[in-house]
Amino acid sequence: MNSFLDINSTDKADLRSMIDMARRMKEARDGQPKGTPDADLPLKNRMVALIFEKPSTRTRVSFDLGVRQMGGQTMVLSGKEMQLGHGETIADTARVLSRYVDLIMIRTFEEATLLEMAEYASVPVINGLTNRTHPCQIMADVMTFEEHRGPIAGKKVVWSGDGNNVCASMIHGAGQFGYDFTFTGPPTLDPEPEALAFARAQGVQAIIERDPVKAVEGADLVVADTWVSMHDPQSARERRHNQLRAYQVNAALMAQARSDALFMHCLPAHRDDEVTSEVMDGPNSVVFDEAENRLHAQKAIMRWCLGV
Ligand code: CP
Ligand code: NVA
Repeated sequence: MNSFLDINSTDKADLRSMIDMARRMKEARDGQPKGTPDADLPLKNRMVALIFEKPSTRTRVSFDLGVRQMGGQTMVLSGKEMQLGHGETIADTARVLSRYVDLIMIRTFEEATLLEMAEYASVPVINGLTNRTHPCQIMADVMTFEEHRGPIAGKKVVWSGDGNNVCASMIHGAGQFGYDFTFTGPPTLDPEPEALAFARAQGVQAIIERDPVKAVEGADLVVADTWVSMHDPQSARERRHNQLRAYQVNAALMAQARSDALFMHCLPAHRDDEVTSEVMDGPNSVVFDEAENRLHAQKAIMRWCLGV
């Protein structure tokens, strides 16, 4: 039994085997209606709790669908409607849920909540996004890159904008999957140094380049995300927009990357803020493949967690 808490805390070989499994499972479903069950049902008779303390479209739908395709059942729970949101401790919630379900996925604010859930649950826990990281997203992104361009090891990935939770997991991914990483954005929104240090310790390049044009030179993949994350105060919106305008991913910036460079965004996107519609809807954008691959990658993650 394994919890999937972060890319940097999961064994490299296990991460790779999950990507391989996700690809195989995707291929096996090729062309089938979404509601068709998989050929084998590894989650048969398993119950999965999906807890959301923040909004979600992709994570919610892809986990729910993935469990059903593998023969299991889900309970989608809103943190606000649980006693969790009214003072019951995370530890007690974890102990109680472990008596009812086989697997817990939680999207929450503080990383400490995720870690406490994992510590006190006797079933595996999956990180469905915290203020600090979003590992499921990066599993889908690596899978997506490799579908289009082959092995990601040795490639140059550039993140333009806010050094946020998705960015931190993308940096962890550099260390674990062997790609080089460049962050470009204003100094006040730098990614956490621990993530960069982790990647460097695995022998890849993980650098900061303030000039977005220089940063994307030779990039194989350019990535953007919202300028204001769900945990950021709305009062920061205007300041962040002013700080980040120069880091918008537009056609002029993409022109500095390799001609076959892909564009990714975890979505939801704010069109014409962090990315122009021209890029997002352009031929090198794979944003909807990323969204689809959340489903396949998470199915593999859940199987790994349960050892099935
Ligand atoms: N990318 C992502 O996690 O999307 P949702 O917030 O819609 O789940
Ligand atoms: N950085 C964004 C990602 C949303 C999927 C947020 O945390 O709001």
